[in-house]
Amino acid sequence: MTKLTDEVKKRRTFAIISHPDAGKTTITEQMLLFGGVIRSAGTVKARKSGHYATSDWMAIEKKRGISVTSSVMQFEYQGKRINILDTPGHQDFSEDTYRTLMAVDAAVMVIDSAKGIEPQTKKLFKVVKKRGIPIFTFMNKLDRDGREPLDLIAELEDLLGIEGVAMNWPIGMGKQLKGLYDIANNRVELYRKDEDDRYLPLDENGKLSEDEALAQDSLYQSTLDDIDLLKEAGNTFDKDKILRGNQTPVFFGSALTNFGVETFLDSFVNLAPAPQEHVVNEDEKLAADDPEFSGFVFKIQANMNPNHRDRIAFVRIGSGEFKKGIDVTLARTGKPVRLNNATEFMSSERVQVSDAVAGDIVGLYDTGNFQIGDSIYAGKKKIVYPELPQFTPEIFMRVTAKNVMKQKSFHKGMNQLVQEGAIQLYRGYSTDDYILGAVGQLQFEVFSFRMKNEYNSEVELHTLGNRVARWINPDQLDPKMSSSRNLLVKDRDGEPLFLFENAFAERWFKDKYPDVELTSRL
Ligand code: G4P
Repeated sequence: MTKLTDEVKKRRTFAIISHPDAGKTTITEQMLLFGGVIRSAGTVKARKSGHYATSDWMAIEKKRGISVTSSVMQFEYQGKRINILDTPGHQDFSEDTYRTLMAVDAAVMVIDSAKGIEPQTKKLFKVVKKRGIPIFTFMNKLDRDGREPLDLIAELEDLLGIEGVAMNWPIGMGKQLKGLYDIANNRVELYRKDEDDRYLPLDENGKLSEDEALAQDSLYQSTLDDIDLLKEAGNTFDKDKILRGNQTPVFFGSALTNFGVETFLDSFVNLAPAPQEHVVNEDEKLAADDPEFSGFVFKIQANMNPNHRDRIAFVRIGSGEFKKGIDVTLARTGKPVRLNNATEFMSSERVQVSDAVAGDIVGLYDTGNFQIGDSIYAGKKKIVYPELPQFTPEIFMRVTAKNVMKQKSFHKGMNQLVQEGAIQLYRGYSTDDYILGAVGQLQFEVFSFRMKNEYNSEVELHTLGNRVARWINPDQLDPKMSSSRNLLVKDRDGEPLFLFENAFAERWFKDKYPDVELTSRL
């Protein structure tokens, strides 16, 4: 095995998908603790509670380093190199959150066991599922009373359409939490015990020795009943299904009390795949350990400080090894670019890239060369990664230039920002209206800010609110179908779509025009 192959095999690159407050920050922090990146709990949290509403952007100004490193967290664990890519939620939710999921090899889904599957988890799950990558589930907050574990597993199938396979099972919960029955490791993990006496082995029948106090406990007995039930009626562990994203291994635990997190991480590191081959140039396969460097831009983070115009283009390395100063070709233009100024994301400090290989992320300081979705490659052979999907926006604004005399800079800025992938632009179907669409509010804030600071064009945004975007088959379109409740617009390819005021308006339309086909993007 070559050194490169060896290095690539060590990579585990994933994102955490969850609904706000499920515990993503807390579990990330525990993982960083295991990785020795931070020394005490609260480090990541402190950053979060600083309330960076327009998040990373403002934070860059304040603390150039930290916020950027928080987009990608890298650490060593059990001889593996782990990359956790951040997927911002709350008001920071944006298309970047979705696009980041295009750059990972696995996802961890954190669910609040009292709440079950919540809307944002569902949205992110859909994107991950489409990619067919493995999804690992952590049912969090076991130290609180939550829902029945069997219900939680059933909900995975009912709401998300994915089989859940239990890797461990709670013994009690909330104040009654005693431990985890660890099916995968054939042991019981006791709650709130020190390292040394935390684990009790199970015998060949999957039972604790009768001498153990817990063996007499009714909660343990009822866990055994559940385990019997799972054996009879539950899903059986199937690694192939897991790797294809058709089955999710389910772990229980409590991130806050650091219970079950290590067990989870150990299994994850073993089961999650190293970077796989990519399909490039439409139908060719490119091995991750191909010696020629190549990658694609999945996110661009502009600096919100007008004195620092640089941006960072986040590149997922798809093959080969990245070396500082490497010469690459930008596939879209065919132009050569020397990648002198790059950063990798190790621990809390930005260090110059030394050994980034397929699976890793590098941040390139960019003065405007790159667009989201761009492919770059170092070899002679052109390599083009598949286009990143378009996501259905949910919030819409009509946009106009504040100063009508400055139409030119308004158009220039808007075109560039739209091309860069910062926001989506629609036009009125039979009017000249400019309508912007985004998946999160932050994208509008960033858009206005950058228009003003980079293009000297102040904009006015008039809200159209949350809308349901549905594309319509052009052959079936009659402009008379449009009203203010279902605004007719066209996308950048000229394809017509309706922006329905709400789901009710969409249903009303479907009743009225039952034969008209409506489709959504991802
Ligand atoms: P997020 O990143 O997914 O939004 O969630 P985060 O980790 O910030 O956790 C949200 C809240 O849930 C926090 O409480 C956190 O302490 C709590 N939490 C996370 N994991 C667990 C767990 O395993 N058990 C329990 N009981 N709580 C958990 P908070 O009160 O909102 O914040 P803070 O006051 O702790 O900072």
